[in-house]
Amino acid sequence: MGRKNSGLLAASLFAILGYGAAAEGAKGDALFRDLGGREGIARFVGAAVASAHSHPRIAFLFEDADDGNLKGQLGDLICALAAGPCNYEGLGMREAHSGMEITEAEFDIFVELVLDAMEQSGISHSARNRLLALLVPLREDIIHQ
Ligand code: HEM
Repeated sequence: MGRKNSGLLAASLFAILGYGAAAEGAKGDALFRDLGGREGIARFVGAAVASAHSHPRIAFLFEDADDGNLKGQLGDLICALAAGPCNYEGLGMREAHSGMEITEAEFDIFVELVLDAMEQSGISHSARNRLLALLVPLREDIIHQ
């Protein structure tokens, strides 16, 4: 390949890679935006925690919770998972739930309450599923601790 051609190849590769990075940057926080940003997240997290307190099967787990801390940390964690402009600085999931002995069924109920709260605040089915996919892997660190 001549020098001219390889220069052209390098330029096209650069253009392709450069475009890829730009596109990634532009859509990287799409989920965060689809969740309604920090305000949207705070709204459904607040509603989910309130529902947990009145749910017959999981309310007991939240009896002694510091709700202000829980809502704040959970909001930051979801914001960070959704690639929003937040840092999660709370406890690791094992530590945060240690001693609670949360069962799989209790975990599923809480996640369901989060999804219901999202639906009620008008968040799209697609965004709900994308967040669900990010929460499911946390399960093994949250249950049976
Ligand atoms: C995907 C599922 C879950 C996520 C992402 C999550 C996340 C969190 C976070 C971020 C914290 C705060 C940690 C800190 O203080 O630094 C926390 C604490 C807590 N979580 Fe979870 N959690 C989940 C599931 C559950 C479930 C299933 C229950 C009960 C059924 C539960 C009950 C609690 C309670 C009671 C606290 C302590 C609140 C406090 O006193 O500050 N969590 N969780």
